[in-house]
Amino acid sequence: MTDAVQQQYEAYPYPARDPAEEAQRLISGSPSFLPEVNHYLFAGRRDFRQPFRALIAGGGTGDGLIQLAQFLQLTSQQLGGPQHEVVYLDLSAASRRIAEARAEARGLTNIRFITGSLLDVAKLAPGPYDYIESCGVLHHLAVPAIGLACLATQLGPKGGLGLMLYGSYGRDGVYPLQTALRQLMPDEATPEEKVALARRLLSDLPEGNAFRRNPFLNDHNTGDAGLYDLLLHTQDRAYTVPEIIELLDSSDLEPVAFIEPCRYDPLSYLKDSGLREAAAALPQLEQAALAERLCGSLKTHVLYAAPRHRAAACIAWPDDPALIPGLRGLPAAALAASLEKTGKLVVTFERDRLELLAPEGAGKIAALIDGRRNLGEIAAALGMSWMEFQNAYAPLHALLTGVNRLYLRV
Ligand SMILES: C[S@@+](CC[C@H](N)C(=O)[O-])C[C@H]1O[C@@H](n2cnc3c(N)ncnc32)[C@H](O)[C@@H]1O
Repeated sequence: MTDAVQQQYEAYPYPARDPAEEAQRLISGSPSFLPEVNHYLFAGRRDFRQPFRALIAGGGTGDGLIQLAQFLQLTSQQLGGPQHEVVYLDLSAASRRIAEARAEARGLTNIRFITGSLLDVAKLAPGPYDYIESCGVLHHLAVPAIGLACLATQLGPKGGLGLMLYGSYGRDGVYPLQTALRQLMPDEATPEEKVALARRLLSDLPEGNAFRRNPFLNDHNTGDAGLYDLLLHTQDRAYTVPEIIELLDSSDLEPVAFIEPCRYDPLSYLKDSGLREAAAALPQLEQAALAERLCGSLKTHVLYAAPRHRAAACIAWPDDPALIPGLRGLPAAALAASLEKTGKLVVTFERDRLELLAPEGAGKIAALIDGRRNLGEIAAALGMSWMEFQNAYAPLHALLTGVNRLYLRV
């Protein structure tokens, strides 16, 4: 099966990327956004003056790779620190060529490219690693638990993982359509013929078809590589939250956080006080499983994970005045004004518009979050004792980390 997967990604490197576009924009997302990795896996305390080594397992055309390598290169330049290393590993030579061209276009010199299977990581690209990303890859293995185990054994003593796995409920309709396509596909069809046949079938689907009714799936509209990946894949499966926990468990790993955390909180969706009370009484992972069932639009699960014995200590908590909060993509002044005016934070994920209540006085604190002041300095600027500030800041911290817009660092 690995051969068939490899052939697919030789024919259709995924996602389709043009290295010339590196001059215009940096693709940034989760997992592997460096401040997010630091917050969720290193309690915000990673010292980037020390060497940092990362593996991008199944790096594809390079989205996660380029983002991480670019941030690490900037960090090295700013801190005058050591050159960090990002190792790219993928089965597909065609994908690697695109990722290499993107790295070259950006002048990135901190990447080592390796072609091969992550099942051979111990031989091809041995650890220890501070961070291992596997985004959209493990669900394409014959036995994902074996792939995960291969990666987990390459983690360094403080290392952790950033993962993306397909979500079952948000992919409603994909698997019956994949099976239908296999039934209709001539054995000898070339990749191009498969794509053409899939397009013909898509335009014939009746209105009630689950895939046609699923508004969250769009890859088939982004081009042939997207369509192939979504509907013609030779090997993929999707996961529910409990199935992810089971997968992690097989390698003695635990989730540190699902991203975005508020989407995995049932209270984000429930208004009825009795239902909220019942949901809040559930253990945390059961709450995440409930949230996924209520939400319905989670077509992927992004999560950070770490060895069980230290997973709880990986995440950053606002318990130290020296920690510096920084916002991602939210200008502090606009956020502060909106929190003050409306008393809530409104976010939209897929089609879910979540209205999250802001704690009283949140705007005044938010206005001081500039990525430079630490928590102690913000408390002092507000004339609050550390204890008073901690109480006032905690609900705002929960709100902004919940929507994945705030990280802590030293
Ligand atoms: C859906 S793409 C994801 C690419 C990239 N991680 C991203 O998120 O943009 C899956 C990638 O995993 C690679 N892959 C699949 N099985 C693999 C394996 N056993 N070892 C290494 N790479 C693998 C494929 O070649 C392909 O490039």
